[in-house]
Amino acid sequence: MAQPQPPPGARGLPFFGEVFKFLKDPFTFQAARTKQHGMIWKTRILGSTVVFFSGPKGFTFFMDPENFTREGGSPPHLRELLHPDAVPFLDGDRHRTRKRLLLAAFTPDALASYVPSLERLIDRYVARWAKAGAGGLEVRLNDELDQLAFDLANVLFAAAAPDDSDTATAADFGVMVKGLFSPPVKLPFTAYGKALKARDRLRGYIKAAVATKGGAGTALGVLKAARGPKGEALSTAELEIELLHFFSAAHAGIAGVLAWLVVVLGQRAEVTARVRAEVAALPAGGLTLTGLAAMRYTAAVGREVRRVYPIAPATFFGVAKKDLDFDGHQIKQGWTAVGAIWNTLQDGSTFKDPATLDPDRLSDAALTQLPANAYVPQGGGPPDGHRCPGEALTDLVLPLFAAALLRSHGVELPAQDLAPGAGGLGPLPRDGLRARVS
Ligand code: HEM
Repeated sequence: MAQPQPPPGARGLPFFGEVFKFLKDPFTFQAARTKQHGMIWKTRILGSTVVFFSGPKGFTFFMDPENFTREGGSPPHLRELLHPDAVPFLDGDRHRTRKRLLLAAFTPDALASYVPSLERLIDRYVARWAKAGAGGLEVRLNDELDQLAFDLANVLFAAAAPDDSDTATAADFGVMVKGLFSPPVKLPFTAYGKALKARDRLRGYIKAAVATKGGAGTALGVLKAARGPKGEALSTAELEIELLHFFSAAHAGIAGVLAWLVVVLGQRAEVTARVRAEVAALPAGGLTLTGLAAMRYTAAVGREVRRVYPIAPATFFGVAKKDLDFDGHQIKQGWTAVGAIWNTLQDGSTFKDPATLDPDRLSDAALTQLPANAYVPQGGGPPDGHRCPGEALTDLVLPLFAAALLRSHGVELPAQDLAPGAGGLGPLPRDGLRARVS
């Protein structure tokens, strides 16, 4: 029998490995390597061997806690920025207990309580864009959606008023998220050095919110009240750590999904017509979770948006717990690895013509026919594993935004470059997503 061989791949520069290529554009880097080597390959990043697993089978192998632990897996700069004790870097019982408490913020009851303030917030933006449109003006939706996504996070996680826009704190989050995908050189003028400074200011902001705010209709209130089966609760320190991550993920991730949804609504008239029909069928009055959850075609559009456009390149990192063998490839104990999200979503053997947006292929019925861990824009596995807890919130925000925009408006996109710019998390359309809302 053939001896297992290490996965193919390049070593890159001494110590740094291929970190610069990965950070510059992790989507293109991954796609090129998968084309070259296939569904499993390795590289070196900052002194560590990193195996990239693509496709449902490889992704499932990576997500199996028997094979990989998240403890000590992610590069030190990620752990430093978010906090070494944040949930993506925990494993085993500590992870499960913390994660179950965090999931309290995304139950149907919790989500339903967020709808009125999120509707008010999104309506405020749509009204402003429509006013500009009525005056014949375009808006640059990259900037607008960036602020909108921050405001949304601010309402949920710091109990801010939906009528407020805090541009200074939003800018600090932008700087911090950039640091997650920058060379970890800690100097006052480098992106990483600036990200650490911004992170310290944000910790102060979140500390003050946790100490003084909360209440009904906010995730902050829900998380403060969350209790596990044995009465476990999040300590103040844990809550502050997790909220910093929640803010960063929601700000960058939600801005990304909304931008690409607008691109689809502006370009695909037949898709927009079907979404519009579901919006028209909503009951009169304010939006509700029940009404939004009934928009099943729109849900499929929201899923396809997350599959076709680059949003999160890969999972956090795990470490092999023992020597492993995957499909004749040897993975040594101590090597690190990620689930290659972008390649898995763009895998032509699961999704025919993977670059084409076809919402029907991710309808509720079609979704149940896919192999496990084929559709993984927010990670895979069970909810109390390392899957993104924000998935249900994303599932809510997409139809809510579509409803707020389309119930009395339309969107036109003037000729421009709509290709994604380079960037680590949530790269947005290159020309700023200029739009006219009518
Ligand atoms: C479109 C938006 C988003 C995308 C694409 C996204 C994507 C991801 C991905 C790929 C992971 C890694 C899964 C893994 O390591 O196996 C993750 C984890 C996580 N996400 Fe999200 N996310 C989004 C929004 C959010 C939001 C809104 C929140 C919070 C409110 C959030 C909180 C988290 C947390 C806490 C984890 C770590 C979970 C764990 O390790 O147990 N994300 N997300």
